[in-house]
Amino acid sequence: MKKLLVLAAIVTAPLFAQVEGDIEVPYIPFEVKMGKGFGEVNANCLTCHSFGYVTNQGRQSKAFWAGKVKKLMVHFKAPITDPDAKIVTEYLYEEYGNGELK
Ligand code: HEC
Repeated sequence: MKKLLVLAAIVTAPLFAQVEGDIEVPYIPFEVKMGKGFGEVNANCLTCHSFGYVTNQGRQSKAFWAGKVKKLMVHFKAPITDPDAKIVTEYLYEEYGNGELK
């Protein structure tokens, strides 16, 4: 019985836990740039996941972005036409590029 009481006290103790002051949840805005080709990105890339997948990569080279678009098409079966893939790659490099081609 004693063991049961101790166990019950341990299990229910967190229910009475209190935090002093307010808890602030950080707000992290994703910077979505409305550059040339954003329409194609919107139509082709945001059906499966948020724009955060793009911004989380940081600034990258043109080859990196071309490779990502290809990966999404080949491995994750993103249904994008070749002309749209080109426009999306240009957009990604223009808005989230690091100035390097390779
Ligand atoms: C058919 C669904 C689908 C579409 C459409 C799609 N993606 Fe993805 N994407 C995924 C999946 C699945 C992952 C991997 C998720 C994971 O690893 O958690 C991913 C991951 C990513 C990543 C993270 C990096 C990586 O290598 O995993 C980036 C960047 C990305 N997508 C960009 C794009 C871009 C740009 C487009 C448009 C050309 C696009 N996605 C369209 C499904 C999609």
